[in-house]
Amino acid sequence: MQYDTLRAMYWQENQLYLLDQRKLPQEQTTIVYDNAPEVAKAIREMVVRGAPAIGITAAYGVVLAAQKAYARNPDNWILLIETEMQQLAQSRPTAVNLVWALRRMRACFPSITGDPVPKLLTEAQKIHREDIEANHRMGDYGASLLPSLCRVLTHCNAGALATGGYGTALGVIRSAFAAGKIMQVYADETRPWLQGARLTAWELRQDKIPVTVIVDSAAAVLMKQKSINWVIVGADRIAANGDVANKIGTYNLAILARTHGIKFMVVAPTSTLDLSISDGSKIVIEERPAEEVHTLGEQIMVPAGASVWNPAFDVTPAELVDVLVTEKGLLEHPTTASLMALINN
Ligand code: MRU
Repeated sequence: MQYDTLRAMYWQENQLYLLDQRKLPQEQTTIVYDNAPEVAKAIREMVVRGAPAIGITAAYGVVLAAQKAYARNPDNWILLIETEMQQLAQSRPTAVNLVWALRRMRACFPSITGDPVPKLLTEAQKIHREDIEANHRMGDYGASLLPSLCRVLTHCNAGALATGGYGTALGVIRSAFAAGKIMQVYADETRPWLQGARLTAWELRQDKIPVTVIVDSAAAVLMKQKSINWVIVGADRIAANGDVANKIGTYNLAILARTHGIKFMVVAPTSTLDLSISDGSKIVIEERPAEEVHTLGEQIMVPAGASVWNPAFDVTPAELVDVLVTEKGLLEHPTTASLMALINN
């Protein structure tokens, strides 16, 4: 399908294949996995990242765990995989899609008799397929809001690499580009892990979509000078009141967008909604190793004695979100009531 060829993960002959996102854009390497603890490590170390992508990967991780456990003891496989289920669940804390996908896999257990692999693999592939379908739907909904000859700014990577395929924020950008609406995409480099520079720019260039990378601190002047029409981002967890946790720096962009009269769009499947928490203050924000800030490649960037604080996400208050795009439809200025209505629709 046009603009939908890239996959961060796939299943082949009883093994999981992950594109190593730590190596992009310099190298395109795939790593093969046959056990769940290694998959949990891959999520923790960001071989694969992005909320929906880590949920899908964890679902395939459950298949690998069950495959090994059933071979060891066919009567006790559910008990045997519990530790590995926990390892997968704890691999990263902020993206709710991870526990959402594990819950879906667990819900299959009671109906399984005999070899669990066929049923669990079918469920993992269904989660994967549904995510891609949701992204295409969100792409169309989001693109319908954009004017022609549009300039947009995105943050981090909410693309095919961060999902089952096609992307959330980049899904909207792909659909809008296919409709001839996108003139220019700007990508924040997204310090410290550089998802914007390394992944978003690479991904958009695979599809020949025009992209310009800026340093994160150029966003304000970009909005002032370059007539940006929309800021379009993804999400890791959305609380019941519409507060959005996403990559660190998203909150800055939402404030800047409001100040400059630019619309702010969040694109996320309903698997990213966490209606069990009332607002964003309850979202656990992952803090990542100091080394991510300390060093750039081989080069030490921070002098000895200076400490580093490296929160990986921030929370954008719902009042700064102009539109939330989900596969179930669009919500302008999301609230607890409108999110509940959307979910129950
Ligand atoms: O730390 P990362 O790279 O996993 O963070 C990813 C993001 O913040 C994305 O914007 C979010 O997961 C949405 S991906 C469709």
